[in-house]
Amino acid sequence: MTEAPGGVQVVRTPEALRAVRQGLGPVGFVPTMGYLHEGHAALIRRARQENALAVVSIFVNPMQFGPTDDLARYPRDLDRDLRVCAEAGAQVVFTPDAGVMYPPGFSTQVSLTGVSEPLDGAARPGHFTGVATVVLKLLNLVQPDRAYFGEKDWQQLAVIRRMVADLNVPVQVVGVPTVRADSGLALSSRNSYLGTEQQARATVLSRALRAVQAAYAAGERDTARLEQAGLDVLATDPEVQPDYLAVVPPDLQRQPTVTPDPLNRVLVAARMFGVRLIDNLPLDPADPVPAALPPGGPA
Ligand code: PAF
Repeated sequence: MTEAPGGVQVVRTPEALRAVRQGLGPVGFVPTMGYLHEGHAALIRRARQENALAVVSIFVNPMQFGPTDDLARYPRDLDRDLRVCAEAGAQVVFTPDAGVMYPPGFSTQVSLTGVSEPLDGAARPGHFTGVATVVLKLLNLVQPDRAYFGEKDWQQLAVIRRMVADLNVPVQVVGVPTVRADSGLALSSRNSYLGTEQQARATVLSRALRAVQAAYAAGERDTARLEQAGLDVLATDPEVQPDYLAVVPPDLQRQPTVTPDPLNRVLVAARMFGVRLIDNLPLDPADPVPAALPPGGPA
């Protein structure tokens, strides 16, 4: 165990994690892949506010990257991350090596049907199996009372809620609203691949989502026509290569028409300037995500 500037304890092994975790509670946990931004800081602050101990993990999980994904060039800066953690109030950072998480002989995968299948599940085969496997391992290692995830990864949040409910994992999953730049661009570690001008162009994603909200507010309930309102905005920038723009109910299984539900969502994934970006908004901005979700969450 080492102590970083700001008093954060940095641990790299399950044994050291158990030692700092012991006797302390409740514990709030924020799993991350590092290159932290204000969105992560919001998760960490919330974890610290609601718990005695805030633990952050920083682990770029190879299992959730496909062969053509950006694993090798995924941005990393541990010193900067430790400063963000300290400023946001984390007391412990768990940053294991890949060999600690996946030792030789590792053979188990956590794979979900249903909620993990459409959208990013279809666009990135194996991605959610990698996410679910590492998140379950991290939850078992940290044994938090609460775990905090950003709503920006809406489908990931739904997958994790489903897994936690299905496997009786004793943790409360807390979704935290997306943090955006003033321009509307959702904060993401991958934004660092884009220059200032390119980031300004990437606001086309949130503008497309808002166009869908506007069509819904104007009374449109046909899913395809709602989606077309967003696709029309994406088409204004020739740089955009959409993977999907979808209006979905809480279980993420697209229906021909929309049935009112506070957890209806519009999600988008698209490539711009060689970078894959995702974003989502509630279909009706007047619908806050309910504080208490049913067991298993929205999915
Ligand atoms: O959202 C992320 O950063 C990752 O998918 C997570 C949840 C840390 C699992 O690697």
